[in-house]
Amino acid sequence: MAIISNCTASIIKGAALALKQGYLVAFPTETVYGLGADATNEKAVARIYEVKGRPTDHPLIVHISSIDLMDKWASEIPDYAIKLARAFWPGPMTLILPRTELAQDFITGGQDNVGIRVPSHTVAQALLKEFAAHGGHGVAAPSANKFGKVSPTTSTAVELELGEHLSNTDKILNGGASTIGVESTIIDCTNLQPLILRPGSVSIEMIEGVLGVQLNLGLFATKVTKAPGLLGNHYAPNAKVFLKGTPSPGDGYIALSDFPTPVGAIRLASPKDNIEYAQILYESLRFGDIKHLKRIFVVPPNNQGIGLAINDRLIKAASHSLFI
Ligand code: TXA
Ligand code: MG
Repeated sequence: MAIISNCTASIIKGAALALKQGYLVAFPTETVYGLGADATNEKAVARIYEVKGRPTDHPLIVHISSIDLMDKWASEIPDYAIKLARAFWPGPMTLILPRTELAQDFITGGQDNVGIRVPSHTVAQALLKEFAAHGGHGVAAPSANKFGKVSPTTSTAVELELGEHLSNTDKILNGGASTIGVESTIIDCTNLQPLILRPGSVSIEMIEGVLGVQLNLGLFATKVTKAPGLLGNHYAPNAKVFLKGTPSPGDGYIALSDFPTPVGAIRLASPKDNIEYAQILYESLRFGDIKHLKRIFVVPPNNQGIGLAINDRLIKAASHSLFI
């Protein structure tokens, strides 16, 4: 499975046609890389689940090129969802909305609502536009990793994760390293009030700023089961991740740059702030696996801005040690 690096107009056209024909196309977004399939093609979508090893009741996000296409997939859209869409699309946010009949059970995991996102990455935008120009309605795309593993933020990571399960007619498009580095903020818009199901770089502060209301964060913790893929034991590298304790010589270590490296530990990353922390977190965990480390110690950042999303992923990656 070759990675296609130079995404010219003709490459994008070929990729859009491959999607139309029912093949899979992994593509870059600003959050992480996605594994795309025509969201109306049941067989193609079934291959996503097969390649990822993902249970079929975990719904997929439908990617579209513009807010104008939103009502193809969603109905009864509340005003606050329109405000959020206008403020943050194209960008790292997914809205969960009541579905139209275009969103079939094989996309929604049988739920009556659908996740929709308009990514901003230029390659993703070009692909989605070209796909629409050939009659496509939307591209289903989970993160392009094996179920429960670390999301890829580069095309090389996609190849490492899934390459052996993709065929020669599938494609991996390269668009550089994802600039945000953690998955989109997921907001449930099926109730009177918005509910954050997964924190991301569209932060609580940003959402509250646009809507002019304070979010009820108590609900955040209790409702996460709505998105089954958001449970513990996700985002995990092969190495065991620890958020407390001191590394021994030979263990991996990730912390903000002001933390010195403990004696003998292998420094995997020294981000200068939370934004850089998010950008490099997944690649650093992957690097630990490439080095066959058994244990990685991580000093979590504060919860400011994207810090909340980083901590959400870290807690899940470390769930083996937190809940036993
Ligand atoms: O940044 C992202 O969102 C990336 C890029 C590729 O767009 N995609 C992504 O997809 O992270 P995935 O499938 O790896 O994670 C999406 C999460 C899953 O946990 C899924 O259960 C949840 O969103 N989800 C999708 N549709 C949903 C729905 N209708 N209701 C509740 N949760 C939903
Ligand atoms: Mg995922």
